[in-house]
Amino acid sequence: MSSINYSEKIPNNVNLAEDRTLQRALEGWQPNFINWWDDVGPEGSTNYDVYLRTAVSVDPQGWAQFGHVKMRDYRWGIFLNPGDAERKIHFGDHMGEKAWQDVPGEHRANLRRIIVTQGDTEPASVEQQRHLGLTAPSMYDLRNLFQINVEEGRHLWAMVYLLHKHFGRDGREEAEALLERQSGDENNPRILGAFNEKTPDWLSFFMFTYFTDRDGKFQLSALAESAFDPLARTTKFMLTEEAHHMFVGESGVSRVIQRTCQVMNELKTDDPKKVREAGAIDLETIQRYLNFHYSVTIDLFGADQSSNAATFYSSGLKGRYEEGKRTDDHVLKNQTYKVLEVKDGQLLEKEVPMLNALNEVLRDDFIKDSVAGVGRWNKVIEKAGIPFRLTVPHKAFNRAIGALAGIRMSPDGRVVSESEWDAKKKDWLPTDEDRAFVASLMGRVVEPGKFANWIAPPVMGINRQPVDFEYVRFA
Ligand SMILES: [Fe+2]
Ligand SMILES: [Fe+2]
Repeated sequence: MSSINYSEKIPNNVNLAEDRTLQRALEGWQPNFINWWDDVGPEGSTNYDVYLRTAVSVDPQGWAQFGHVKMRDYRWGIFLNPGDAERKIHFGDHMGEKAWQDVPGEHRANLRRIIVTQGDTEPASVEQQRHLGLTAPSMYDLRNLFQINVEEGRHLWAMVYLLHKHFGRDGREEAEALLERQSGDENNPRILGAFNEKTPDWLSFFMFTYFTDRDGKFQLSALAESAFDPLARTTKFMLTEEAHHMFVGESGVSRVIQRTCQVMNELKTDDPKKVREAGAIDLETIQRYLNFHYSVTIDLFGADQSSNAATFYSSGLKGRYEEGKRTDDHVLKNQTYKVLEVKDGQLLEKEVPMLNALNEVLRDDFIKDSVAGVGRWNKVIEKAGIPFRLTVPHKAFNRAIGALAGIRMSPDGRVVSESEWDAKKKDWLPTDEDRAFVASLMGRVVEPGKFANWIAPPVMGINRQPVDFEYVRFA
């Protein structure tokens, strides 16, 4: 078992004590991190004892220890998956060469940019979710929110470690800047669009953790293939934490749907108005939230054609999702890939060099993965005997990045006129009224075992604890 040293101020499994300069630099950054947590982390939670899992080793099995802790005392630290001294680069122009333990000079700027962009999303989501604790639908859900928040904080640590260890002075400056940008801030926003959106209610939160944390899964998976070994090992460990975040999203939306279907069957109605009057969220509104979060999230993969994506791949910085399981040549020089464009009001496919289309390749892998969960949500509706089905919108719907940016497209994939868009938008994307309605349901329910009216209880508790376990102790 590869264990983590908790006797140090900064828990780690990278022998931090042997590198005094680095240790001092990180100990200098630590108080700023805590200040950031106090300023924009989960609101009003300082004195809560939360039943959290903490990483105690980096073994895939049994790395987690559960217990009540104050979030401020959570053992944020630096944990890398074990290294393999023989590891070889397995894609791109350097295929077959030894993986890098340090940053090669010629890739320094690109690697720093990749790490900073990933790092920036981690504190951003904590900021976006800052107020949600005040409206938790149950103590169980409150605990899950806090678990995600502390782990996103740890993911920030993971990226900051790489910046401090491998990028010298500019790395330290970037690490500071990660605490200075703020989600939604007009003057100094987070780097990526979806991370400047609000997460104002729990339906948004569940959609966010289902879709946007899944973007995290795919980005981290691509980085886990990197020729820069410390980045590969760091992101591999982050992925083990990410799985729980997506579980919270998938099961959260599923429980909302379950409750809605129950109300529909009790009232024998499919009228959204009546569903709302009964205090549940109508399936139409859930569909609009889904459309929004899905389209905003697939923008995160970047432009469909990108010379940066080609460079990142060929130089070994970022692979594809499950690169090792693919059976092509892992160089991709003569291959092509289909991307979409709109010409004369028509949606067309065109073949482009695959290396330039790697953002699109990753986006399509993400789409496959996220559609599967939507199918599981539909099973809940089907089981309730209700004919409604949720769908993911067309890939070109509501896009703001790449060739499809600004194209007016219906969720079912028709190019539409500006006037049709204006007329139908309210059926396709959450309206202010939808959001106000969902917000009106958000009252705080935190007695053990009690749940808000708009969401069903989970099937099981966390870590085999009962559903009515005291997951959070309020001081
Ligand atoms: Fe994360
Ligand atoms: Fe996450």
